[in-house]
Amino acid sequence: MQVDGSRLTAGVAGAGTMGTGIAITIARAGIPVTLFDVGADALARARRQILEFFDSSVARGKLAQEDADRAAAALRFEADLDALSSSDVIVEAIFEHLPTKHELLSSLDRVCSPDTLFMTNASTLSIAEIAAGSGRPDRVVGAHYCLPAQLMKLVEMSRGLLTSDESWQRAWQFQLATGQKPIETRDHPGFILNHFCIPYHNDAIRMIDAGVAEAASIDRAMKAAMGFAMGPLELIDLIGLDTQLRASEALFSVTNDPRAAPPPLLRRMAAAGLLGRKSGRGFYVYGSDAVYGA
Ligand SMILES: NC(=O)c1ccc[n+]([C@@H]2O[C@H](COP(=O)([O-])OP(=O)(O)OC[C@H]3O[C@@H](n4cnc5c(N)ncnc54)[C@H](O)[C@@H]3O)[C@@H](O)[C@H]2O)c1
Repeated sequence: MQVDGSRLTAGVAGAGTMGTGIAITIARAGIPVTLFDVGADALARARRQILEFFDSSVARGKLAQEDADRAAAALRFEADLDALSSSDVIVEAIFEHLPTKHELLSSLDRVCSPDTLFMTNASTLSIAEIAAGSGRPDRVVGAHYCLPAQLMKLVEMSRGLLTSDESWQRAWQFQLATGQKPIETRDHPGFILNHFCIPYHNDAIRMIDAGVAEAASIDRAMKAAMGFAMGPLELIDLIGLDTQLRASEALFSVTNDPRAAPPPLLRRMAAAGLLGRKSGRGFYVYGSDAVYGA
């Protein structure tokens, strides 16, 4: 089944790190998109970050002014769940917490049309388990965007046990219509990328705790030797230390891999509110909360 991007309307639930980037990808494709969050602060920040991102993309010659204007006009910011009721497709990007995702999806199930497709950006939770609390498990698809979503094209897509073929095809076509590059993975915690990245990031944190080297030295070493664009500590600051903590707990609970277990330093820093870029300080200190790239 083809998805006609010119007729779609989309919603994104959660205006945090990922929801903000995902909304950019959809608006840039010219698809009307409503960004919903329960937090007025999160919505105001997302609006400012998105408009700054479009301005910066134009200034760097990566986006024509008219395309930036069209993308900005495609966006709405809403704190009322009913604003998502007319969406054809909704991407859920709220906290990685199963009861919270169930509560949101079951509320959306009540206000949306039976045809509305739900995608979940969950990193480690099971798509089948999320779908089980949605009221429409056949219309839930896993769509794990990569950070920063506004720059990264890859989306790891997975089916829950009851996802229908029609929903799968609609979700896949939606990704293509918004210029993303979907790949299929099994419904497995961490999918492909986080299976590598969560233990690797935790190794870097343990290395700091053990006094092997400072964050900047570890990052420099990995970029110089491995050709990575970012070092592991820079990337954890971008991901959010709270998100790294929740993802580690979820992956460890399923795999029992000791490298996936949250390092004590990660727990201490998250408890102290040192969450990385979003709080202004993590392994590094930041002077601005602009979204990454342009
Ligand atoms: N940060 C990453 O690197 C990354 C990458 C891929 C996937 N993910 C996944 O994306 C999801 C979101 O992660 P994030 O890093 O953007 O989190 P975040 O903490 O930056 O943002 C979450 C947002 O959800 C909002 N929220 C919470 N409950 C809500 C509700 N019931 N209704 C509406 N809004 C609600 C919060 O107010 C917050 O603004 C998680 O499932 C996470 O595992 C994160």
